[in-house]
Amino acid sequence: MKLIIVNGPNLNLLGKRETDIYGAMSFEDYLEGLRKDFPQISLSYFQSNSEGALVDKIHEVGFEVDGIIINGAGYSHTSVALTDALAAVPASAVEVHISNVYKREDFRHHSYLTKNCDGLITGLGLNGYKLAINYFIDKQ
Ligand code: DQA
Repeated sequence: MKLIIVNGPNLNLLGKRETDIYGAMSFEDYLEGLRKDFPQISLSYFQSNSEGALVDKIHEVGFEVDGIIINGAGYSHTSVALTDALAAVPASAVEVHISNVYKREDFRHHSYLTKNCDGLITGLGLNGYKLAINYFIDKQ
């Protein structure tokens, strides 16, 4: 099974950024552990701070992967283009947020992406990505 994790803006700074909210681990280190936990999955990873690059990546992989695990970060709350990209491709998606967006500012309570995802995992830390992988495995 082929899955991709797509991370949006500022998530390149995980481990350095607001560690009280997002934790002290870099995504690269977390990803290394994920790949060890799921050797049977072909797991690719893409991060960009640019909305257009995220849209382009979804177009590029959305016809070939079995699932997209997406943390649109700040663009989740603003981007019609990103949710349209998810709707445009056959791969199903799961939305992940590391923090519990519902415990935070009101502007984080709405995500444009959720409508075009199978589900949403929020507030369970980096473990949310692992749960999303398990969802796709169980769904097969
Ligand atoms: C986030 C939550 C978003 O509101 C925020 O803009 C992020 C990270 C999360 O993973 O908790 O950058 O997506």
